[in-house]
Amino acid sequence: MNKNCAVILAAGDGKRMKSDLSKVLSKVLFVPMIDWVANAVKASGISEICIVTGFAGEQVKSHMGESFSYAVQEHRLGTGHAVMQALDFIKKSDADNVLILNGDAPLIDADTIRCACREHMDTNSAITLVSASVPDPAGYGRVIRSSGGKLVRVAEHRDATPDELTINEVNSGLYWFKKDDLIYALSQMKPENDQGEYYLTDAVGILIAAGLETSAYKTLNSHVVLGANDRVQLMQLNEIARMEVLHRLMISGVDIPCTDGIIISDGVPVGLGSTILPNTILRGKTQVGSNCTLGPNCLIENCIIQDNVKLCNVQAENSTIKNSSDAGPFAHIRPGCEIGPNVHIGNFVEVKNSVLDDGSKVPHLTYIGDSDIGRGVNFGCGSLTVNYDGKNKHRTTIKDRAFIGCNTNLLAPVTVGEFAFIAAGSTISDDVPPFALAIARGRQTNKENWVAEKKPYKNMD
Ligand code: UD1
Ligand code: CA
Repeated sequence: MNKNCAVILAAGDGKRMKSDLSKVLSKVLFVPMIDWVANAVKASGISEICIVTGFAGEQVKSHMGESFSYAVQEHRLGTGHAVMQALDFIKKSDADNVLILNGDAPLIDADTIRCACREHMDTNSAITLVSASVPDPAGYGRVIRSSGGKLVRVAEHRDATPDELTINEVNSGLYWFKKDDLIYALSQMKPENDQGEYYLTDAVGILIAAGLETSAYKTLNSHVVLGANDRVQLMQLNEIARMEVLHRLMISGVDIPCTDGIIISDGVPVGLGSTILPNTILRGKTQVGSNCTLGPNCLIENCIIQDNVKLCNVQAENSTIKNSSDAGPFAHIRPGCEIGPNVHIGNFVEVKNSVLDDGSKVPHLTYIGDSDIGRGVNFGCGSLTVNYDGKNKHRTTIKDRAFIGCNTNLLAPVTVGEFAFIAAGSTISDDVPPFALAIARGRQTNKENWVAEKKPYKNMD
């Protein structure tokens, strides 16, 4: 079994992105492009990976962490020069082959990496590059083949002849090299082109001149070559990735009657028979069970949504929503909530850092913060927990089957016992015992005939 290592080129700046951020940290489906690339490399079975950083290198390093090796390219003198900066890493590695790829081409996948590797081994090549035919080859290096179909050269767009510019098979920027042949090619590279850069693609000619075999593995999945140099291309990559995720979900049994505004992070599982409606974003570590209806207009981040859940116009973060619960329209479930099963959260309700147990109902205009709510509790309209005293947050505890009347304030810390009943409009500052009725408001007085005598309105004389 051969051993392989990889070098990811990520020293380019974000000039065309008009961003202070390193270009490779620009996001596709909420994930930086370089993570897509690194994940594909790891999924192909390579664990020894060096990232060449330059512009905003510290950002890249602190984002990617310690499981990678790093090489720094102080001056960006081309892709060949970038790989030269990783020579120490390459020489120290006991790999037989080196995979080199661009950090700004996120749609690469493990399959393509593995298939290209097989071709590389089968043809006993010194270099195997991945190519694809694209409808618009502008900007890419063109793959020049001999009449027998052998890879001869890569002509960079700006250096290509008019004839070469008509070729639509382009270089993806992903290469497999035999390690020793790569080291040799780098030693021979010269910056002899229009840009005065060291082109990694010149390795093809150098290795042919040395009498070695070269090949181009042409993939049918042309998306793998696409890179993002500006925000328009970034949007196009987002759109491709978005539709790939949605197609995969539809094929696996998720109903998406209209894809407008639906963005689902790659890897978010959605169960069989669930329906996702327009303008719904599912991201982070979110998981969705079966037979749910999410949307329209939901933003769900890092949530576990169990089965048969219905959410409409809901924003939810870092929470769990259990079986057969529903929320919305217009509800906000903030971090730290455990909701359900069978819980109903209705219009204009905000819940934060709270547990609501089986069958409890919060139908309208309510705030529940830092609370432990038992089973079968009913919150009347406009009731709320007063969890903050200006300095500290306190918890509210409501036991099973308690009934909270409309417009109740619960001054935490406070406990309402099971089956307790709170009269509407109460401000509860003391614990309420189980089965008690609590009334905490001024008694009503009616002043008979007051209006007739006082005549407080216009035109009453
Ligand atoms: C490169 C290829 C081209 C191919 C295209 C695919 C060369 C000469 N050309 O062109 O054939 O079709 O990729 O996208 O290799 N980088 C560095 N240091 C540098 C220059 C670049 O780290 O000095 C990194 C960039 O961050 C980027 C990658 O290398 O991740 C590619 O560089 P870029 O300048 O975008 O190359 P292209 O002109 O697109
Ligand atoms: Ca590029």
